[in-house]
Amino acid sequence: MTVLPRPDKHDPSTLGFPSQAVHAGNVIDGSGGAIRTPIVMANSYALPDDASTISWSGTDVPLYTRNSGTNQQGLQAKLAALEHGEDAVALASGVAALHAVFFTMLKSGDHVVVGDVTYEAIYRLFAELLPEKYGITATFVDAANPDAVRAAIRPETALVHVEVIGNPTTKVTDIAAVAAIAHQAGALLSVDSTFTPPPLFRPLEHGADLVVHSLTKYINGHGDAMGGAVIGSRTLIQQIKSDAMVDVGGVISPFNAWLIMRGSVTLPLRLAQHQASAQRVAEFLDADPRVAFVAYPGLAGHPQHDTATRLFDGRGYGGMLAFAVDGDAATQDRFVSALRLITSAVSLGHDESLIVHVAGGADAGPRVAFYPDEFRTFGHLRFSVGLEDPDDLLADLAAALDATFD
Ligand SMILES: Cc1ncc(COP(=O)(O)O)c(C=O)c1O
Repeated sequence: MTVLPRPDKHDPSTLGFPSQAVHAGNVIDGSGGAIRTPIVMANSYALPDDASTISWSGTDVPLYTRNSGTNQQGLQAKLAALEHGEDAVALASGVAALHAVFFTMLKSGDHVVVGDVTYEAIYRLFAELLPEKYGITATFVDAANPDAVRAAIRPETALVHVEVIGNPTTKVTDIAAVAAIAHQAGALLSVDSTFTPPPLFRPLEHGADLVVHSLTKYINGHGDAMGGAVIGSRTLIQQIKSDAMVDVGGVISPFNAWLIMRGSVTLPLRLAQHQASAQRVAEFLDADPRVAFVAYPGLAGHPQHDTATRLFDGRGYGGMLAFAVDGDAATQDRFVSALRLITSAVSLGHDESLIVHVAGGADAGPRVAFYPDEFRTFGHLRFSVGLEDPDDLLADLAAALDATFD
């Protein structure tokens, strides 16, 4: 008979995912007995009597909030538990976390293979900033095609960076296949899993070395705090803490760490609702002839539907979809203007539904690769399906379609 460990809130490894989301990283306040970690808005921590031996670059003793603070540490413990990683570092934003990976792991002369559907800032970092300023080169590839990743590897390739479900087009990458290729070449694999928070997917279990989240999105979930995190082995995370946190300084504020800690408590419940509603919305839009195309990994017609089904193994397909109404860029804008419930704003993974017209044009390049050709010009709509009543969402979309095509 298998003896299950007795659940203990002080040991996340004994807990199921929803229990980890509630308890992991929470520390009872020794001074006042509060059962939730208070917000510790202090820059500095009291030093021991003999402070001469403390390293000012250290991250393991209470010292200075740029070296790690109480709220950041609690959040890191929770994120490591949720992603099944050894350690985590929480920083000021998702982009700060991504930059921390690149700054720590790369040097001049290195080459990076990057998925061609990737968050805008990452596109610019690898297309312009890192090559121009630091001599780091990058090749953008169709990461949904492992052969393309393999073909792009060079002797100086130090890193492969991909998104599980890519922003903005929802292209899906087979993480295990790409991990095998990266490791065969002696490169690391970093995976942005912002669109696929746990329990939907855990990249470390599929061979990724580092997983990155914009905590701003699903993990906080309430649209009121920015944060980012990297999760991985103790060794790699310690390197990132020392190099990119202490000496570059993109540290998360204690208040934001506290907000994200609180928001993440309901991640399992929220994600289930986001996904159920996204599937309904995707099917609804897909059935309407006034909609030119819908890209959602949960639709059988999605180019990587089979990969997604294998990767996510019945746990859903995320809450993000991309689509376009039948018409040019002005038609997309007319449709968005006619919405009365869904908000036109950037970001995603918030409680409220958010839609944004992702610009087309020459710059759209490979990022819109699997769309009908005209949407390279017109752009498309990226839709983060929120927690509103799904019937209300469908009614808003239907009314906006009527208003657009009347
Ligand atoms: C996939 C992905 N990664 C990273 C980021 C950047 O996160 P942040 O806005 O928290 O810096 C975003 C933001 O939209 C994103 O969608």
